[in-house]
Amino acid sequence: MSKITRRKALYLGSATLVAIVAGKTLTQPPTLKHFGSKKGLIYGSAGAYKRLSKDKEFARRFVAECAMLTPENDLKWRHIHPQPNQYDFSKGDWLLKLAQRHRLKMRGHTLVWHSGLPNWVKETVNSQNAEAILIDHIQTVAGHYRGKIHSWDVVNEAILVEDEHPLGLRKSRWFKWLGEDYIELAFRVAAEADPKAMLFYNDYGLDYNIAYDRKRQEAVLKLLERLKAKGVPIHGLGLQAHLSGAETRFNAEKLREFLADVASLDLKIMVTELDVSDQGLPYDYLERDQRVADVYEMYLSAVLDEPNVIGVVTWGLSDRYTWLSNFRPRKDHEPVRVLPLDRELTPKLAWESMVKVFEGLS
Ligand code: G3I
Repeated sequence: MSKITRRKALYLGSATLVAIVAGKTLTQPPTLKHFGSKKGLIYGSAGAYKRLSKDKEFARRFVAECAMLTPENDLKWRHIHPQPNQYDFSKGDWLLKLAQRHRLKMRGHTLVWHSGLPNWVKETVNSQNAEAILIDHIQTVAGHYRGKIHSWDVVNEAILVEDEHPLGLRKSRWFKWLGEDYIELAFRVAAEADPKAMLFYNDYGLDYNIAYDRKRQEAVLKLLERLKAKGVPIHGLGLQAHLSGAETRFNAEKLREFLADVASLDLKIMVTELDVSDQGLPYDYLERDQRVADVYEMYLSAVLDEPNVIGVVTWGLSDRYTWLSNFRPRKDHEPVRVLPLDRELTPKLAWESMVKVFEGLS
């Protein structure tokens, strides 16, 4: 048993885990799902077909720990719509079945994004046919999962201040083909295709008290205001929250103000892709885990003060599988330690920090 786990939790074999959190002995299995639900929050994680279908140990832990599953890649255009007239729902359907069997809600990620597009889109779509192709994609994909998805990330990452559009809009392919209206169109078509799903706008870089994030917050807020003013069916904002353990410029009060502005538009909020990069943190596990855990705690305790926040999804559950291993590797080439569970699926300090915040102890 690791030093870290021993501090607050006693691991008693693979089936029984008795945790002592803040002096209370728990009779429920101590999972993030359990602690989240006590606070009225959904806890979930992103998971990929290629991991969950092959790694049984991981899949068992995933469905025990989570009340929600976001397919990490399997519903993206490249995977689900590989050719103009071909949709492939096999992996998404497999993930939905897994979720349903274990009573997890499923999120949909994502219907419109500048990234993750198959080559045929880049090669054949133009201003003339873009609208019809976008409508067909949303109707087909959201229609296929009609009534089964908790919330869709209808539009992902439409803001990029570097593109110098006066409204901060990303000059993505969809924007170039259809102008800003592609955003409204996507929400309206998604609402018709799946009237029960909550429809989210999802974006990153909304977290820190730095000029870049403040500009992004402002652009996102204005976008949400325009959509609401036009009566567009949008129900929430997704905060990706890809955080950094080395970044210190965080201001809880400023973040709460931003979230209160979003909530005042009658929108729900979810943390949709939370993780904490350990790039730039020391090698030492205890120190590194503590720094990462502190960021989980600091961020979540600020965000969860906002009553319109309905859930927290981490972008992966265990360090065994995380995009950060490839996208934000450490300079010392050591395995990253960025998620609630380590590679052996043992809870780390980050897991404890999340529990602490869910329990209102931070
Ligand atoms: O599976 C193939 C493998 O067969 C191949 O050898 C390898 C070579 O590049 O690629 C593998 O696919 C990669 C896939 O992840 C699975 O690991 C893709 O190249 C890679 O582009 C893909 O990256 C994903 C990325 O989105 C782009 O779609 C990440 O897994 C995924 O975590 C990441 O998620 C995004 C969210 O959708 C939106 N918000 C940001 C977040 C992080 O970038």
